[in-house]
Parts: sequence; C-alpha cells; structure tokens
Amino acid sequence: MRVLLTGGAGYIGSHTALVLLEAGYDVTVLDDFSNSSAESVARIEALTDRSVQTIACNLGDLREAAQALQVIDFEAAIHLAGFKAVGESVKNPSAYYRNNIVSTLNLLDILRAKNVRELVFSSSATVYGVPQTERIDESHPTGQGLTNPYGRSKAMIEQIIRDVHASWPDFKAVLLRYFNPVGAHESGRIGESPSGVPNNLMPYVAQVAAGQRESVKVFGDAYATPDGTGVRDYIHVMDLADGHLAALQHLEPGVATYNLGSGIGYSVLDVIGAYAEASGKDVPYVITEPRAGDVSRVIADPSRANQMLGWSAKRSLDDACRDSWRWQKQNPEGLQGRYTVAE
Ligand code: NAD
Ligand code: UFG
Repeated sequence: MRVLLTGGAGYIGSHTALVLLEAGYDVTVLDDFSNSSAESVARIEALTDRSVQTIACNLGDLREAAQALQVIDFEAAIHLAGFKAVGESVKNPSAYYRNNIVSTLNLLDILRAKNVRELVFSSSATVYGVPQTERIDESHPTGQGLTNPYGRSKAMIEQIIRDVHASWPDFKAVLLRYFNPVGAHESGRIGESPSGVPNNLMPYVAQVAAGQRESVKVFGDAYATPDGTGVRDYIHVMDLADGHLAALQHLEPGVATYNLGSGIGYSVLDVIGAYAEASGKDVPYVITEPRAGDVSRVIADPSRANQMLGWSAKRSLDDACRDSWRWQKQNPEGLQGRYTVAE
C-alpha cells in the first residue's frame, strides 16, 4: 500500500515516513522544500534501505499538484504540509491562510478526483484555545479564543474536512491533534531544523546547550503551576510518528479526532533541567516577561487514542532530550544550514 505524505520532508513528516517504511508501506513524499531539504529524504532512505518517491511541488498550486499526482497510485494521504510559526502567522496572516487552507482544498479535490478515500490530517492542540479543564479531551470546545491565524487555520481546516465528509460519506478522515512534538530519531540522522531563532522551547534549549546561544529566555514564572513556568505535554516525535501509523490502520468512514499527547505535563524549568542532564552541559536561563498569547498549561487526555488506536506514548522527556541532543551535536547547523545567531 502506498501512502502520500504532503510535507513529508519536514520534521514530523520525515519521522512518519520512516515509521511507515519500516512497517512495509510504500511512501511518496510531496514537498516544496520551503521549510525542509531533500537531504532528510535521502537520510530516511539510508536509514530504512528503502526508496522514497519524491515529488518537489507546491501543493498550493492545484494544476501543478494535480498533474504531478495524476500518474501516482496511492491509497491514503497524510497531510502535513503547511506553515506552522505562530508569530509569523500574526505578521503575515494572508500567507498563512493561503498556504494552509488552499493547499488543503487542493489536496481534498485531488483525493476526490482520484477516489482516494483515506486522509490523516496534522491538526494541533492549539485548536482548543484556552484550556477549560485540567487535561483536555477531544470533546473540549474548539475554535474559541484562538489568538493567532495559524491556530485559526487549523480549526478551519478541521471544519473543511468535516464538510467534505458530509458530501462524500465513503470518505475516511482522522484529525490528529498534536500536543508539543519534541526529540528526534534515535540515530541522530533526522530531526528538527528550525530556521533562524527557534520559536519552540526544546530547539532553543538545544542551541543553548550547544553553546550557540547564551541563555534560554523563560517566558514568565508567575503562572499557576508548581514552579510558576508554563506547563506543556511534550510528545516524542517517534511516538507521534507511531500515532500516524496507528491512525492509518484504524481509518473508518467518518471523521475521527484523536489527541496525540502523553498525558503528562512538564514545566519549562523541568525541560531545561532534563536537557542539562541529558547533554551534560550547562543550560543557563533568565526569566523574562510572559509571551503574548501563551497559556499556563496544556495537557492532553489521550485516553481515546489509547483505547481506539491501541496507541500510547512510550518515550519519556529524558528520551526526547537525549535524542534531541544527539541530533543537535551531529547537525549543529540543521539540514538546511539556516542556523543564525541574531535574535
Ligand atoms: P515542518 O515545517 O518541518 O514541515 C512541513 C513541511 O511542509 C515542510 O517540509 C515544508 O517544506 C512543507 N510545505 C509547506 N508548505 C507547502 C506547500 N504549499 N506545498 C508543499 N509542501 C509544503 O513542520 P512540522 O513540525 O513537521 O509540522 C508538520 C505539520 O504538523 C504542520 O501542518 C504543522 O502545522 C503541524 N503541527 C506541528 C506542530 C509542531 O509543534 N511541530 C504542532 C502541531 C501541529
Ligand atoms: N517557552 C519559553 N522560552 C522559549 C520558548 C518557549 O519559556 O524560548 C515556553 C512557552 O512559554 C511555553 C513552553 O515553553 O510555556 C512551550 O512553548 P513552545 O513555543 O515550545 O510551544 P507552544 O506550547 O507555545 O506551542 C506548540 C507549537 C504550536 C502548537 C502547540 C500545541 O508551537 O504550533 O504547541 O499545543 F499548536
């Protein structure tokens, strides 16, 4: 069985491709390499000793994407392509809406035209907005109180997929709401290559541990959490990749929604401490003002995925720090060589 991975050269896509190849699936990666490089695909091929069909194409261009996919037989698609930087989405909303939404509409039209009925979509815990419960399950309201165009684009795409299902009852879709993906493949050969200054905590901490940046800025220490810093549900990217495989294997007509998280919350200071331990390096930090739009805690209730998909997070925060550090040491510039010091 062949699976199309849009955005398959990126951080989550590359790990997902590897897991699918190891499970015996054939993989086609469609990516415009706007935030990745073909090197990640070459490394997946080397790690798995399998070949990956690669299509360099902008999914935002319907004609180009339809033409490229016309000759390819695939039975399911995992749709990861999109822009994901929250701050950038506030500065350039139309680019975010255009890329994320138009690409999805194009993919859905192509799937319909080819009668490919199976779709797994990369959604995000961001659709829940400000959490109203200690741990968030899938029945938590979505689309309310979202603070940025990135998050709103995810909530809109979820709705679009539901509407497409309403018009096409045979369609089988899964919306995977990721919590905070971290870590890298244990080989250190594939991982996350942020462009410029990392927005997310762990890649920033990795660069501080490596001596590339002076100190971590801890965004606020007066939240209502045990140590006052923000608490998140960090999920190892290989567990996330396993979650895609499980979702693919449990597709049924309809639109199912699953949280992919560990159910465990760690604070910013927990992450810094775990990373210092895993790397054996000092990780200096300074407390700064809270970041606009941040909430105190976001923790998944992953029970539905545990029960329905037979999936659960197996790897710990320490595993993620160890694997991230291996990746960081072996690839100090990332795969695109876009590491820059300027803040
Ligand atoms: P990433 O940027 O590493 O991967 C996205 C890939 O999509 C990149 O390879 C990029 O080149 C490609 N792409 C972007 N626009 C494209 C287009 N128009 N046509 C073809 N390819 C295109 O990001 P990631 O962290 O791997 O995220 C994958 C998906 O998961 C995204 O949809 C993201 O919004 C979602 N997600 C990520 C996180 C996270 O923290 N990393 C959390 C929740 C959800
Ligand atoms: N943080 C810092 N310093 C930094 C970066 C982050 O203190 O330099 C803190 C944040 O305030 C937060 C925690 O570390 O408390 C995690 O922040 P991230 O930026 O790593 O992650 P977010 O929870 O803000 O958001 C991430 C993705 C979103 C996704 C969301 C899902 O960036 O795309 O998880 O929950 F939607």
